[in-house]
Amino acid sequence: MLRIVPNRLLGKVAVVIGSSAGIGFAIAERLAKEGARVIISGRKQEGVNKALKALDPALKVLGTACHLARYNQRIRVLEMAKYAFGGLDILVINAGVSPVLHDVLDTTQRAWNKMFDINVKSYFQLAKETVPYMQERGQGKIVINADINGYHPHINLGAYAVSKGAIIALTKATALQLAKDNITVNAVAPGIISTKFSEGVRNSERADDFLKQIPQNRFGTSEEVAGPVAFLVSDDANYITGETICVAGGVVSRL
Ligand SMILES: NC(=O)c1ccc[n+]([C@@H]2O[C@H](COP(=O)([O-])OP(=O)(O)OC[C@H]3O[C@@H](n4cnc5c(N)ncnc54)[C@H](OP(=O)(O)O)[C@@H]3O)[C@@H](O)[C@H]2O)c1
Repeated sequence: MLRIVPNRLLGKVAVVIGSSAGIGFAIAERLAKEGARVIISGRKQEGVNKALKALDPALKVLGTACHLARYNQRIRVLEMAKYAFGGLDILVINAGVSPVLHDVLDTTQRAWNKMFDINVKSYFQLAKETVPYMQERGQGKIVINADINGYHPHINLGAYAVSKGAIIALTKATALQLAKDNITVNAVAPGIISTKFSEGVRNSERADDFLKQIPQNRFGTSEEVAGPVAFLVSDDANYITGETICVAGGVVSRL
C-alpha cells in the first residue's frame, strides 16, 4: 500500500509534461493528492480531458494540450500555471519517445533526430524557459524522467538509451547552474514500468528474459515512480540536486 504524505506540497504549483496517461498521470495525481495545484498535459486535448475526468474532482488540477517539442504550447502551459494558480514551483518533464527498437548503429537518421529532438533538445528548451518562472518564486524543483537504459543500454534500445544517458548528464549540468537560484534538478530512471509505452517489451517473446534481469522479478507500476518524484519535488529533498534515483527493481544502476 503506497502512502500519500498529506499536505507535503500544499501551496505549490506543478506542471507535469506528458501526464494524460501512464507514469505522468500517476505523478500528477500523486502531487495533487499531496496538496499541489497541478497542470496536466499531453499532445491530445481529448486525452487530457479523459485524464481530468478520471481524477478526484476534489483535487486542484487543470489541463491543456502541450506537445513537448512545440515552443508555443510549452509557453502556454507555463503561462497557465502562472495565471490560473499564481506561479510555478515544480516542473516534471515526463514525456519521451522511443519510436524504434534497433541496435544503436542501425538507427535511421530520422529516428535518431526524433529521439534527440524530443528526449533531449525539448527537455533543455523547456527547462530553460521555466527558470524565469521559478526565479520569480525564489525557488523551484525540476524532475526529469530518464530511464535505467541511460546507465545500461539494452542492445535493442540503442539510440533511445543514448538519449536517456544524455538526460542524466543534462540533469547534473543543469543542477550545477541552478543551485545559486535555489532550484534543484533531479531525475528518476525507471526500469520497465507497466504502461502503454512498454507494452511491446512486456508482451514480447523475450518478456521472461527481461524479467530474469530484474532482481525483484516483476515490472514496476507508475505509482512506484510517482512516489520518488513526489519526494524529489518536496522540501524533504531540498539538499538533493543533480541526482538520479533509479526505480528499477534492483537492476544494476551505475555506469
Ligand atoms: N514505461 C516504461 O517502462 C518506462 C521506463 C523508463 C522510462 N520511461 C519514460 O517514462 C516517460 C513516460 O512513459 P510512459 O510509460 O508513462 O508512457 P505512456 O503511458 O505512453 O504515456 C505518455 C504520456 O505522455 C504524453 N506524450 C507522449 N508524447 C508526448 C509529447 N511529445 N509531448 C507531450 N506529451 C507527450 C502522452 O499523451 P499524448 O499521447 O496525448 O501525447 C501520455 O500522456 C517517457 O519519457 C519514457 O521514456 C518509461
